[in-house]
Amino acid sequence: MYLQKLSLVNFKNFESKTFEFKEKINCFVGLNGLGKTNILDAIYYLSFAKSYFNPIAGQNIKHEKTFFVVEGDYTINERLEKIICSLKKGQKKVLKRNGKAYDKFSEHVGQIPLVIISPSDRDLVIGGSDARRKFIDGVISQQDKSYLQDLLSYNKLLSQRNALLKYFAANRTFDEVNLSVYNDQMISFGTSIFKKRKKFLEKFIPIFNEKHFIISNNNEKVNLVYKSQLLTSDYRTLLDKNLEKDKILQYTTVGIHKDDLSFEIGGFPIKKFGSQGQQKSYLIALKFAQFEFIKQQSNLIPILLLDDIFDKLDENRVSQIIELVNKNEFGQIFITDTHSDRIENVIKQSNKSYQIFNL
Ligand SMILES: Nc1ncnc2c1ncn2[C@@H]1O[C@H](COP(=O)(O)OP(=O)(O)O)[C@@H](O)[C@H]1O
Ligand SMILES: [Mg+2]
Repeated sequence: MYLQKLSLVNFKNFESKTFEFKEKINCFVGLNGLGKTNILDAIYYLSFAKSYFNPIAGQNIKHEKTFFVVEGDYTINERLEKIICSLKKGQKKVLKRNGKAYDKFSEHVGQIPLVIISPSDRDLVIGGSDARRKFIDGVISQQDKSYLQDLLSYNKLLSQRNALLKYFAANRTFDEVNLSVYNDQMISFGTSIFKKRKKFLEKFIPIFNEKHFIISNNNEKVNLVYKSQLLTSDYRTLLDKNLEKDKILQYTTVGIHKDDLSFEIGGFPIKKFGSQGQQKSYLIALKFAQFEFIKQQSNLIPILLLDDIFDKLDENRVSQIIELVNKNEFGQIFITDTHSDRIENVIKQSNKSYQIFNL
């Protein structure tokens, strides 16, 4: 599978632009602010019907314009597939595959598997637990449709249960039967989500360790650990035990919405004790593991977007990454860099065909 051609109209800083791509490596080179990351985001759009960077869809329309269109021609299993994502101001986003609009974008997610590595992934290390849950959820839901549905149902029940707890407090009342209706459903969805996360991480963590081993040249001891209250207690017991606390705090204090991943280096949190390069290596290993995992689950090789990944990494790590790219069966790769010499040197080592676009 690969993206042959990309056309942008009024997407972010591009008014009208078309690119023809190589089947293997494509690089965008240029100074800051020229739109390298925006091109990657357009490619991301075609896989997920949303931006990786800006959740407010309307802000992806070029300033002063009223719509954008992102169009991609893919070759998938030797067939041409045309994906178009467009947005008019004040209207709903439209996503089409070969001329036919999707009712639900979730039907499209996973059809063109893709992994992006970008500087904003730092949020995974420095941000709150929701960023890390989103990471897990994103990987699982690319290959398990019911997972996303269960998660949406769970989150809806969670806010309803929280509203009920608030109502109890405001009205100095309590209705056990009413609450148990929410509990029962949350236990059912929550337990299923917990089991899927646990099963996923059992497969994922060894892949992560293997990738990190290569990138760091086996110089660092890192751990990735799944943290969930459900690992030590079933959900019903947890809810029962914490009922009084929930009533006082007026929200649900236990459940899979509190799950987290712990990123550790030498036994300590990497957020506090890892250098920038170490944090970056950790994130790259995480994303390469995601790539490997999705590849194993799908019959297509994901597209890989590498945004400024060679920045802040020493030469050793850069060559280890190139070695990974060489060793593994990667498909199409898009890379951005501000230094044309650096990227050309790096890419040459990879002995794959490539094209450089100077912006
Ligand atoms: N909706 C928009 N309309 C016009 N320009 C935009 C829009 N969104 C972002 N930009 C511009 O895109 C540029 C940043 O592009 P980016 O892809 O991040 O650059 P880089 O090449 O450094 O990766 C900025 O100059 C920013 O003003
Ligand atoms: Mg950029």
